[in-house]
Amino acid sequence: MTDSKPIDVAVLMGSPSDWDTMQHASAMLDELGVAHECRAISAHRQAGQLHTFVEAAEARGVKVFIGAAGGAAHLPGVLASMTAKPVLGVPMKGWSTGGVDALMSIAQMPSGVPVGCLAIGKAGAKNAAILATQIVAVGDARAAEAVQAFRTAQSEKITELPS
Ligand code: RP5
Repeated sequence: MTDSKPIDVAVLMGSPSDWDTMQHASAMLDELGVAHECRAISAHRQAGQLHTFVEAAEARGVKVFIGAAGGAAHLPGVLASMTAKPVLGVPMKGWSTGGVDALMSIAQMPSGVPVGCLAIGKAGAKNAAILATQIVAVGDARAAEAVQAFRTAQSEKITELPS
């Protein structure tokens, strides 16, 4: 995707090592037909690049940011400090506490700069994509139809126990 193409959702992660999980957010956004871009930009190693990306994404019409990070997991909060657009945070499993460190870090934003915190790992990645699409859908009938169609198909799936 070129840097000038309009996007509705920007998916940021603190490290390329988060992609294994966050590819599920991208796949869900693809399924829902949402224009998005995925980038690995570290809040603590690449703060300048993060700021530049956020400014460029806003110029491209982004409506929701998704930030994924593990460990101290400050990316979603730093992201939220740079924009007034909604920011959804996805805690990565990390290397020592199964992602509870990141969950607490993302969920415990001090008052005034909110981050919506999803579940740890793959479920959070997929739900962040769906919730981002629901936010976009407030002003976009096509996105609303895509979410409704996904939900209907999900409900209609036959859930059989393995024999
Ligand atoms: C966080 O630290 C990243 O979001 C990642 O989840 C974790 C480990 O990063 P790497 O050391 O693999 O780059 O900033």
